Amino acid sequence: MVDFSLTDEQKNLRELAHDFAAREIRPVAWELDRDGAWPQAIIDKAHEVGLMNTHLPEEYGGAGLNYLDGCIIEEELSWGCSGVQTSLGANGLASAPVMLGGAEDVKREFAEELVAEPKLASFCLTEPDAGSDVSGMRTRAVRRGDKYVINGSKCFITNGSYADWFVVYAKTDPEAGHRGISAFLVRRDDTVIVDKKEDKLGQRASNTATITFNETEVDARYLLGEENKGFKLAMMVLDRTRPGVAAMATGIARAAFEFACDYSKERVQFGVPIAMHQAIQFMIADMATKVHLSRLAAWNSAVLLDQGKRNTLESSHAKRFAADSAMEVTTDAVQIYGGYGFIKDYPVEKLMRDAKIMQLYEGTSQIQRLVIARETLLPRRIEQPATATA
Ligand code: CAA
Repeated sequence: MVDFSLTDEQKNLRELAHDFAAREIRPVAWELDRDGAWPQAIIDKAHEVGLMNTHLPEEYGGAGLNYLDGCIIEEELSWGCSGVQTSLGANGLASAPVMLGGAEDVKREFAEELVAEPKLASFCLTEPDAGSDVSGMRTRAVRRGDKYVINGSKCFITNGSYADWFVVYAKTDPEAGHRGISAFLVRRDDTVIVDKKEDKLGQRASNTATITFNETEVDARYLLGEENKGFKLAMMVLDRTRPGVAAMATGIARAAFEFACDYSKERVQFGVPIAMHQAIQFMIADMATKVHLSRLAAWNSAVLLDQGKRNTLESSHAKRFAADSAMEVTTDAVQIYGGYGFIKDYPVEKLMRDAKIMQLYEGTSQIQRLVIARETLLPRRIEQPATATA
């Protein structure tokens, strides 16, 4: 059955997330962007009202929400400010490999800590010379007795400066390419060094840092999944998180679309509101279509996961389409505002800057096309883990 009508619970969830975005995020979003400030107060409140870690299983005290629920929340919070949502949502990216590959006691320890307090976790995959090409990473993990010792640097790490936990991908067999990578859950200690906080074009309310692991010792029980199977784990994680990124892009696009609609009804040129001009109407119509289809693609890719199905293709469709659409819609919003759109006193230039990262993080739009082409031309059979919510 094809049915995207929301249940009453999902409508309530959307209302909760929307009210939170309208009350707690929107009023400070442009100030946080201007100052590149860290939204700790919002993180504390979001944790308190249950808008963080929503995916963690109920058995560990989490809300146990599904992927579609996650998309609904992520769109609303990103409508408020996608930089803030990136800060709130990065725990989801870091938790996915733990829930997929962690030992039972490790999952419990990690999840219960995140549920109890507004703690943060970071996903450390990217390196200066290994962005799209994950298998080119140089970070090493060497087994010594019942521990692994990690050395190396990770860059562009969301929440890196504030995280208590890190999921770190490292080479355990450097000669084996993508088949020599393993994933570890690492607790912050003084061998974990924050090297650099990036000064970014957009999403300036999110923290992005370089993190260096210097002889960092990890107990072997914190290995996530099997040794040398970390690459596949990372790919499975990205299949699970890209629907949420598509939902975030939808939230940014929707915000820009709404601002542009309102402005086009107020701004008078040639004696009528510019919304009366067909040139503007056609732009508005295209923006509306892109917001609508982005949401449908995000939800479709999430529902497949909720049904326990593999969604690699649909997740890349959604991430690619929604990210590129957000860039187009926000650029058109600036166009509709005319010269005012280019000025920081008006809301849309921030959204255009924020949208850009959607085409870059969690796999560029080019990487999504690569995945789509491979899945279309040479589809692979990959087994799914038993748990749909992992
Ligand atoms: N699920 C499970 N396994 C998968 C898979 C999937 N979706 N995709 C690939 N695999 C498996 C393949 O079956 C293959 O298995 P074998 O070892 O048995 O052969 C193996 O993984 C290698 O697959 P490929 O040959 O396709 O690998 P590749 O090296 O050509 O790379 C890629 C594929 C799609 C380019 C991948 O490297 C990729 O997604 N790159 C982008 C990385 C990315 O998104 N980075 C973002 C970092 S996160 C972030 O942005 C953080 C933030 O803070 C917001």
